[in-house]
Amino acid sequence: MLKKILLVIAVVVVLAAVVESLTAQPRPRGGGFGGRRGGRGMDATSQQNPPTAVNEEEKKILSVLDDMDRNQRSGNMNVPLEDGRILRLLTEAVGAKHVVEIGTSNGYSGIWFCLALRATGGKLTTHDIDEGRAALARKNFKRAGVDNIVTLVMGDAHETVKNIKEPIDVLFIDADKPGYIDYLQKLLPLVRPGGLILGHNVNMGSRMQDYIKAITTDSNLETVFQGQGQGLSITLKKRLSE
Ligand SMILES: C[S@@+](CC[C@H](N)C(=O)[O-])C[C@H]1O[C@@H](n2cnc3c(N)ncnc32)[C@H](O)[C@@H]1O
Repeated sequence: MLKKILLVIAVVVVLAAVVESLTAQPRPRGGGFGGRRGGRGMDATSQQNPPTAVNEEEKKILSVLDDMDRNQRSGNMNVPLEDGRILRLLTEAVGAKHVVEIGTSNGYSGIWFCLALRATGGKLTTHDIDEGRAALARKNFKRAGVDNIVTLVMGDAHETVKNIKEPIDVLFIDADKPGYIDYLQKLLPLVRPGGLILGHNVNMGSRMQDYIKAITTDSNLETVFQGQGQGLSITLKKRLSE
């Protein structure tokens, strides 16, 4: 009888081990973003291939982003980690000197831009209407050590963007969805030829149709849509544009 019980236990243990090995997810490598299970903004790609820091400054910035990813997402409507990485990559690739962001929130996407702007010697001008989120953004810019390259403009961006006079290399729109078309019309003339206009959450159906039509039918623009994340439109203002 005892032999039978021991045999059943052994079979159960072996079966459990086989099931676990078949269903286990690949573990992320290294520390920081990859060291533990990812925050809510982290998709499978970033869990397997987390961002890696080139030096101590970048390590510090990535650790602030990691903390925000884990602890500040609630109520702040941040871009997913994967989209943040794309913002940084595009910004650094075009050698942007001036990024304009509509929709600062707590500064999460802004800090991704700053990772690129530190390398290009550029600066970020970011706009928000909500003082609570902006106060948090100021703290986050400071602890990431990027506050010296950020100007945070408070107020309704439909009004405040009228004060922008300098050329824009990258325009990122991530605020009131029906307002995207107005931001585009006001700021497109300032985007330099070869510059980018990035729109977040452009998969939000009917509220975005006028914006989507504008970026896909103007022959001065070339637009693609990034399928992952929450819908990122990537628009190039052609160098030959009038
Ligand atoms: C989706 S959140 C931005 C998230 C941020 N880009 C990030 O990923 O960390 C949108 C922000 O736009 C701001 N906003 C909405 N309407 C605005 C307006 N008319 N002018 C300025 N900011 C506005 C909101 O207060 C909110 O903080």
